[in-house]
Amino acid sequence: MSQQYQHDVLIIGSGAAGLTLALTLPTHLRIAVLSKGELANGSTYWAQGGVAAVLDDADTVESHVADTLNAGGGLCSEAAVRFTVEHSRAAIDWLIEQGVPFTRDDEEPREDGGFEFHLTREGGHSHRRIIHAADATGAAIFNTLLAEAKKRPNIELLEQLVAVDLITERKLGLPGKRCLGAYVLSRQTGEVDTYGARFTALACGGAAKVYLYTSNPDGACGDGIAMAWRAGCRVGNLEFNQFHPTCLYHPQAKSFLVTEALRGEGALLKLPNGQRFMQRFDPRAELAPRDIVARAIDHEMKRLGIDCVYLDISHKPAEFVKAHFPTVYERCLTFGIDITTQQIPVVPAAHYTCGGVLVDQAGRSDIPGLYAIGETSFTGLHGANRMASNSLLECFVYARSAAADICQQLSDVSAPPTLPGWDASQVTDSDEDVIIAHNWDELRRFMWDYVGIVRTNKRLQRAEHRVRLLLDEIDEFYSNYKVSRDLIELRNLAQVAELMIRSAMQRRESRGLHYTLDYPEQLSEARDTILVPPTYAD
Ligand code: FUM
Repeated sequence: MSQQYQHDVLIIGSGAAGLTLALTLPTHLRIAVLSKGELANGSTYWAQGGVAAVLDDADTVESHVADTLNAGGGLCSEAAVRFTVEHSRAAIDWLIEQGVPFTRDDEEPREDGGFEFHLTREGGHSHRRIIHAADATGAAIFNTLLAEAKKRPNIELLEQLVAVDLITERKLGLPGKRCLGAYVLSRQTGEVDTYGARFTALACGGAAKVYLYTSNPDGACGDGIAMAWRAGCRVGNLEFNQFHPTCLYHPQAKSFLVTEALRGEGALLKLPNGQRFMQRFDPRAELAPRDIVARAIDHEMKRLGIDCVYLDISHKPAEFVKAHFPTVYERCLTFGIDITTQQIPVVPAAHYTCGGVLVDQAGRSDIPGLYAIGETSFTGLHGANRMASNSLLECFVYARSAAADICQQLSDVSAPPTLPGWDASQVTDSDEDVIIAHNWDELRRFMWDYVGIVRTNKRLQRAEHRVRLLLDEIDEFYSNYKVSRDLIELRNLAQVAELMIRSAMQRRESRGLHYTLDYPEQLSEARDTILVPPTYAD
């Protein structure tokens, strides 16, 4: 039997953005935080690098803003960048208050009783400004925030719950267009339950799983973007998919990222013959922004017909490497690579979705009562290429401003009416799950081949043709069979892939992460690609 639940705030996603929102809201609110697997399965947990913020006295907001605008290829919203950077110190202070164990530069307390934190550097940053917890920053942040959330009786942390679709007044034929909650599949009971809420937030991460090779965990299926689109929200800049230049190249090393902070601390990229190559592509060499480094690696791999390039930090003292990069050191060692003496084979892999659900500075989407935060959202911060470690910062800054916005509206928004339950009367158990597995593989393969680091009109047309066939097939399957996690994720991935392809086809230039051989130049005017869903109404 399906169930009905009511909360003040429903947060779909349990990573940095979702937990920050939950912890920043007043304690008298009843909050549900949903995770579609285990709570720790999202991307936050795996983030190695850190959080970019203006923390050093010699650094400035202007410098962080300028670096972000520069990395973003002329497409960032300066207002969004300034807003995020100006709130960076407060966000870090809040994380420190929660108890995040950031790496200290000096174990000795200063005269004022505080500590200096170690700041590392990553591509595109002209200053050391990445605060981190060795090379496992995401895990340190996640564990701290989760422990805090568990202490709050008003926050329910719920696992194995997969959001299927949002419930809006429009969908129910009611006057208005407010979001009233979501239909959610319980993986334990197999039933789709109804979660009513005064406010709903999508904090579901990005869609890098749309590609065959990705640094992301399995859940990065664009769920929030797809649900928001279906509900009537505009999305923006989905052609900008960031490929992380350095993922470990090893047959057993599924999705293992080798943090950019290695290059920040002096690691060099080399060809199989030991020669460096990045200086041929950009004066900043290994510390150029990610789009440039990933494209340079792709270019060299294709030019030389090689399977990978190499990242080399073996010239640094072994103790330094082990102390700063324990996670990378240990993981590589399990594959027989000692990074203190050997080079690391690396390849680019899909890493971050720069576009997403269009939101304002409070994280508000086009639908009243619906927020999108973190990688799910498109705030304008990242432009055509996200600068390293700005994304965790965006999670904290926008989650905190969404919380403030919800607080302001509390007295005006009452609980939704009793909502209709999920209608499963027309569907049966699937007898052919092979369709899901097949379509999943096909989608990820053609997205990698046709909508990857280098694009052409022809490749995009091929991808468009194929994604339409898949969407039709998936729709038919979805209408006839009971939903499962795999089906929900495939439906979302295919939807987001279609939006990505459509966005890429609309951009007739090369800018940032979108590089096409048919339009290699950058246009003089920078424009966002905004897609408007058929269900959108102002
Ligand atoms: O290389 C990294 O550690 C990744 C950082 C990021 O994606 O911001």
